[in-house]
Amino acid sequence: MKAIYLCIVMVFLNTGWGTAAEFWGRTGHRATGEIAEKHLSNKAQKKIKELLDGASLAFVSTFADEIKSDEKYRPYSPWHYVNFPFDSTYEDHPKSDRGDIVQAIDTCIKVLKDASSSKEDKAFHLKLLVHFMGDLHQPLHVGKAEDKGANTFQVRWFDDGTNLHTVWDTKMIESYNMSYSELASNADMLSKEEIEALESGTVTDWMYESRELCLDIYKNTDIGEKLGYRYMYRYMNVMRGQLQKGGIRLAHVLNDIFG
Ligand code: ADE
Ligand code: ZN
Ligand code: ZN
Repeated sequence: MKAIYLCIVMVFLNTGWGTAAEFWGRTGHRATGEIAEKHLSNKAQKKIKELLDGASLAFVSTFADEIKSDEKYRPYSPWHYVNFPFDSTYEDHPKSDRGDIVQAIDTCIKVLKDASSSKEDKAFHLKLLVHFMGDLHQPLHVGKAEDKGANTFQVRWFDDGTNLHTVWDTKMIESYNMSYSELASNADMLSKEEIEALESGTVTDWMYESRELCLDIYKNTDIGEKLGYRYMYRYMNVMRGQLQKGGIRLAHVLNDIFG
């Protein structure tokens, strides 16, 4: 009997079902926060430090995942992603009344721009905004409902059973083996024009950019496929680019809010 229980536990661990697989891993979020910090105006930096009582954007970037374990914050769970069918558009598909990542980012910006919001409310929504701008750049957070943004799309990562969502949240970045600050300081060198090009557009435009990548990932990945070095070679620079775009765009949004 004991052996059967052990087997069940091992199957769960091996497939990744037992892990909190629903978030762009900590390293990714922190790298995006750290990159954003480097692109903040002095004024925005000062106001953000005040609101966060001195904490860095990297430090607060994982807050929205940490609160998930508290029942009280359950309504915020759908704010981390958006799902709509591959043959539809965001506009044509009925919006989730529980919210989605695009609505969430808009709400956070509104609360932060509203002079009547309390400091506590502003700090809370700032932490959420830092996190959701990271999630927006995880291509599988702009996915489809049937497989929960590829959370039920089973694959292998080297010799481990997992799912495609987790490969993009954590596995690939873990295998790359750089800390968040190393990822931030080794981000691609961009010209002023390239940065301006990345800053242009709306939250919805940026969501659609992630959607394109999501479609590309589905085209290039088979259910049950064993992914490893070849996959990293194909996608690690795409992932690094997403972390950087997330950081630059987060700073742009914050500079607009805080002047
Ligand atoms: N749960 C359901 N859909 C999801 C998605 N696209 N990303 C993360 N978690 C999800
Ligand atoms: Zn998240
Ligand atoms: Zn995720």
